[in-house]
Amino acid sequence: MKVSKFGRRAFALAVVFSGAIAGQALALEPGDAAAGAKVFKKCQACHSIVAADGNKIGPNLHGVIGRKAGTQEGFNYSDAMKASGIVWDEASIEKYLRDPKGFVPKNKMAFVGLKKDSDLANVLAFIKAESGK
Ligand code: HEC
Repeated sequence: MKVSKFGRRAFALAVVFSGAIAGQALALEPGDAAAGAKVFKKCQACHSIVAADGNKIGPNLHGVIGRKAGTQEGFNYSDAMKASGIVWDEASIEKYLRDPKGFVPKNKMAFVGLKKDSDLANVLAFIKAESGK
């Protein structure tokens, strides 16, 4: 069978596009907790992940994985966060950090979010390692 030049190009493009879509559906690459500690510096102005530190401008993040959003004792959450119904796991924290205002509209975390997949993966690895200590 003779494939036209156009046909071959279209096929190559289809492969590239389906690859891009499949890539988006995949979870983040496993992150590096040590690199995540550096990313977490951006959070530290407002959050500690050490239980004994208590709440700061933001709620303490110790034990955040598996915790229902808006339930850290002693923290004055927004109504939006309390009503969000989220239980924090890696996937929901990732979505929140990518776009805090988009994922939980009217929540009061004054943070623009993280855009780089590597920053997200690394900070999640850090949170996973530290929040359960
Ligand atoms: C400028 C301060 C600030 C920064 C910076 C910040 N946060 Fe927050 N964060 C908050 C506040 C305030 C809330 C509570 C939001 C509400 O009640 O609407 C919050 C809420 C959260 C929650 C939900 C906790 C819960 O108990 O429901 C998570 C998870 C979180 N932040 C993670 C992070 C991470 C990770 C970073 C860094 C990448 C970060 N935040 C950066 C202020 C901040």
